[in-house]
Amino acid sequence: MIKNANWITSGNDSGDICPVFCRSWKCEKEIEKAELTVTALGVYTAVLNGTRVGEYVLAPGWTAYGKRLQYQIYDITDLIHTDSENTLKITVGKGWMSSPMPGWFDYPSKLERMKRPRGIIGELHIQYADHTEETIYTDENWICEDSPVRFSEIYDGESYDARLESSAESAAASDSDDSGIKHAIPTEPQYAAALSWSKNILIPQEGEEIREMERVAARRIFRTPKGELLVDFGQEVTGYVEFSVNAEAGEQIRILHGEMLDKDGNFYNANYRSANAEINYICREGKQTWHPQLTFFGFRYICLKKFPGEPVPEQFTAIEVRSDIRQTGSLHCGNKKLNQLFSNIFWGQKDNFLDVPTDCPQRDERLGWTGDAQVFVKTASYNYDVEKFFRKWLHDLAADQRPDGSVGQVIPDYTPEEQPSAAWGDAAVICPWQIYLTYGNTDVLRDQFESMKKWVDYITATTTTENMWTGAPHCFGDWLGLDAPSGSYKGSTRDELICTAFYAYSTSLLVKAGHVLRKDMSSYEVLHTRIVSAFQKAYPEYLTQTECVLAVQFGLAADPQKTADQLADMVVKAGTQIRTGFVGTPYILHVLSDYGHADIAYDLLLREEYPSWLFSVNQGATTIWEHWDGIMQNGEFWSTDMNSFNHYAYGSVADWVYEKAAGIQNQEDAPGFARIRISPIPDARLRHLTASINTRHGKVSSSWKVTEQGIRYEIDTPVDAEIVIGDQTYTVTPGIYTYWS
Ligand code: BGC
Repeated sequence: MIKNANWITSGNDSGDICPVFCRSWKCEKEIEKAELTVTALGVYTAVLNGTRVGEYVLAPGWTAYGKRLQYQIYDITDLIHTDSENTLKITVGKGWMSSPMPGWFDYPSKLERMKRPRGIIGELHIQYADHTEETIYTDENWICEDSPVRFSEIYDGESYDARLESSAESAAASDSDDSGIKHAIPTEPQYAAALSWSKNILIPQEGEEIREMERVAARRIFRTPKGELLVDFGQEVTGYVEFSVNAEAGEQIRILHGEMLDKDGNFYNANYRSANAEINYICREGKQTWHPQLTFFGFRYICLKKFPGEPVPEQFTAIEVRSDIRQTGSLHCGNKKLNQLFSNIFWGQKDNFLDVPTDCPQRDERLGWTGDAQVFVKTASYNYDVEKFFRKWLHDLAADQRPDGSVGQVIPDYTPEEQPSAAWGDAAVICPWQIYLTYGNTDVLRDQFESMKKWVDYITATTTTENMWTGAPHCFGDWLGLDAPSGSYKGSTRDELICTAFYAYSTSLLVKAGHVLRKDMSSYEVLHTRIVSAFQKAYPEYLTQTECVLAVQFGLAADPQKTADQLADMVVKAGTQIRTGFVGTPYILHVLSDYGHADIAYDLLLREEYPSWLFSVNQGATTIWEHWDGIMQNGEFWSTDMNSFNHYAYGSVADWVYEKAAGIQNQEDAPGFARIRISPIPDARLRHLTASINTRHGKVSSSWKVTEQGIRYEIDTPVDAEIVIGDQTYTVTPGIYTYWS
């Protein structure tokens, strides 16, 4: 709890230079325990007596800052000196608080956010062995000076002058050179100024901590045909590069980040749009190792625009930074390319689960796009333990929900000027329901129920046709569907069909959530029945793959078998090609295999030509692409306009592999995998498949292998299960079982 401390900010305006707040004090008695409770407007790193406090990167994370700002508590007992002076230094960058996000439009809300000051609030509690206590609060006695971080911001990167490191106040740096980095002229110590900022927004840390998770060594250094010097990490990573160098003071390093090489093998990052994603570093004398601390990048390649000497790969490591979510799922089969796809899906998740589920980690977005999150939440919750991660984000969604119940396109809502969209706003309902299903904890429904209800009520209150959703202020449609008319990002599926289908779906989930919480949901049950019949009346036939998919998946089609058959037919007639976008893709394989077309589902999964999941694998992808043709068949890029190579949405295909190919099925009446149905659908083209999920009840795994004697299944269930092999059903208790078919 932060009780008596006050917000402080920089006493003078140093522009882009990151302030460092410092406090020195002496402890003359033996310490029992010491804790630092702190948060910032911006992102901070705290260093006590030269040692980094905690492992949290980009603290305090990203929340709906206007209403919720997490503080962190660190045990600093072991870092405090009793024989000499202690010095705590907290450096603050703009972070998500005041960086110019989003990059593509100067919304009034963005311009307001950019004016937010950088500041901190915190308390140091020290308990002495003699049972006395002391508390040091942030106040105007803290010193606030310019740090060696001369610039730091989410999209543009970081600039650092290592010559200023030892102590900012005695730093001897000239005020100009050709590095583009601004220097401070040494001055008298500056004191922090009081800042009037709400304390009511402070909440304890809720989400997972953001941490440095994996280290990826550089694979190679090479020159491109244009002569650029590149480092290739062999994997697209979100985080930052750590480099080591032996240099003379004043030597400069300039690094750019990129995801892909162009078709001639040159450096390419035009798809980052306005995000400069750049590191500028001025060396101090001698050996030094450094990485940015207050920003992050999405990259596979770095371009060494300036770097001392002849660099070798050993000097570079990519440090993966993400929320500390732990892997729970695994997928492995006998097809190498599919295994690469699985790897790309896992990496796509790691790279975009940095406190908020983001669309992408590299260009001038990196926003919590609601549509993307709802599309991927099921896969996400099988791959990793994301319960805490999503619960925190959903609290932000509820906090930022607009007075009329509508939900912004991104959460935290950094585009409040934009209108809500079907399938995006529905994240308010779909995500809590899925988190409940995967982990079996009703708290998420209890926390979110009002928010879920408000979203459904918003549609009911604003639609222009009763029991449908028409006249919506905006609709992203079947975003990036391949049946889009030329020049459009929206597939051909009718907007109002999508709107009404999701209205029905969200209402049905709201009803289920209400039942779990033992609420009277009769009026919503009636509403749901009416939406279904209005849908059937309005849409007697389906014109696109996605229309068929939604009609079946959401229980809207009068004759689901006929509609699934129609879908199968459409897919085959299209040359066994997927035409769906963000809205239809997550469900298409489910609908096909649920209605007897598993062979076609596998055809789509295993297809290698464009458009398909494996097309990007064949092009060397290490994460999931935003477009089916991020790199087109002719080797050209799709466009610079909107072309991310690290967008997890289409990775949602993994939930089909867990649930249908491997057959591991959670049961709605036994959420959290308290009882499991395992009904694998083998396909000889994979040769073998093993999927496992570490559930709240233990690890379930399902394997099958095609052998000369037939198909061998091995199922390991931690709970009572129903195992379906062909047309045989076995009811079993926890254990390992083998079957043949
Ligand atoms: C984002 C998407 C998002 C979409 C909505 C894009 O710019 O990257 O993933 O869902 O906009 O239209």
